[in-house]
Amino acid sequence: MISEKMEKAFNEQINKELFSEYLYLSMQAYFERMNLTGFTNWMTVQVQEEHAHAMGMYTYLNERGGKVELMAIDKPQTDWASPLDVFKHVLEHEQFVTSCINKLMDVAEEEKDRAALSFLDWYLKEQVEEENNVGGVLAKLELIGDDKHALLLLDKDLATRTFVAPVIG
Ligand code: FEO
Repeated sequence: MISEKMEKAFNEQINKELFSEYLYLSMQAYFERMNLTGFTNWMTVQVQEEHAHAMGMYTYLNERGGKVELMAIDKPQTDWASPLDVFKHVLEHEQFVTSCINKLMDVAEEEKDRAALSFLDWYLKEQVEEENNVGGVLAKLELIGDDKHALLLLDKDLATRTFVAPVIG
């Protein structure tokens, strides 16, 4: 059985992962409007990843005898100034999520919930990968600047990203 405090913290994080899914879906729509199919694909994969992150916690909470309580999802931003602006936002958001996972682990430590700590280790590693991945695209966009030809080459590159369902925990 999971503690009430831990249950609440997991439910809040499920909401944040679902908001991430929603935010990236909004970014996906932005890239679709721009006809940048590779960037759109990158976001589609990101949306799927966030859904998997939320469901990983949903399943875990159920397994531990906790109650999943879904909350309202905030309205995400719908417009950005440029692809560079989008990826700056993505990096900022992922850094925020990393801090949330760290706080969730702090709660698990306070509650002496070693099982939850071990489970959350996967999320911590995932955040390192996410920030690195996003930082890579952001660095390329900064190099590209106003070069539209280079932007289209990056778009082609991002079209190759595929979703691999993660094995969480
Ligand atoms: Fe679920 Fe991108 O963090």
